Amino acid sequence: MDKKRVTVPEIGRMKGAGERITMVTAYDWTFARLLDEAGVDMLLVGDSLGMVVQGHDTTLPVTLDEMVYHTRMVARGATRAMVVGDLPFGSYQGSPDQAVQSAIRLIKDGGAHCVKLEGGVAMEETIARIASVDIPVVGHVGLTPQSVHRIGGHRVQGRRHGSTPGGRERVIEDAKAVEAAGAFAVVLECIPLDLAAEITATLSIPTIGIGAGVHCDGQVLVLHDLVGFNDAWTPRFAKRYAELGREVVRAAGEYVQEVKGGVFPSEAQAFQPQKPAAVGE
Ligand code: KIV
Repeated sequence: MDKKRVTVPEIGRMKGAGERITMVTAYDWTFARLLDEAGVDMLLVGDSLGMVVQGHDTTLPVTLDEMVYHTRMVARGATRAMVVGDLPFGSYQGSPDQAVQSAIRLIKDGGAHCVKLEGGVAMEETIARIASVDIPVVGHVGLTPQSVHRIGGHRVQGRRHGSTPGGRERVIEDAKAVEAAGAFAVVLECIPLDLAAEITATLSIPTIGIGAGVHCDGQVLVLHDLVGFNDAWTPRFAKRYAELGREVVRAAGEYVQEVKGGVFPSEAQAFQPQKPAAVGE
């Protein structure tokens, strides 16, 4: 595989060439290295870390400082993949100036190559301002988890017609606004697959779907869903490619048994006392 860094022009080229783009969330150095080695094109340091790493019910409590901290770890582990830093709730909605300052922190202190933010029409000026200082922006429309209280849960968007938030025509308007503002890609989350297909055909920038069907230019999954870290629940749109959560419980359980039974550590893991030095040594 080509080990050259994935760049913004390369992501655009992939859409033109019909090459599917892969994105996975990463939150630390260990997984960034593994996902990078696997050939994932884009590592998203998502504010989903609020739920899958920190254990909150929503992404809303995540702070910009926390995002910078996690982005820095991921950036150190990614040699090929593009690192996307997610702007958390409250770090960009205040004003376009606030958004630019927050985006600069993710790039300068976090080492991200670009930033992502949620919202369409309402974020047009904000995206344009960030893009105007040459920070590449990924948009995010459809289900926007930072709007969870307005939406009333993590629900599929664009199923009904209408231009009010959540309506099919509104999702299209949001996606067009993101492109017009200068974003270089857009995440489509939890919308019907025909709507995602229409948006993908309409936009010249790549669409990256999560719960948006097969017709997007790329796909994104949350790491914990992909590798099976979440025991209790996997979203319907996700696919578990491994059961690492169960494997961790099995391995740690075996360790507990071996320590309690005096099996671990064995001779092989023990240091012997130093042999007395021979005369003259
Ligand atoms: O924060 C995140 O992980 C995301 C993905 C679900 C796209 O925004």
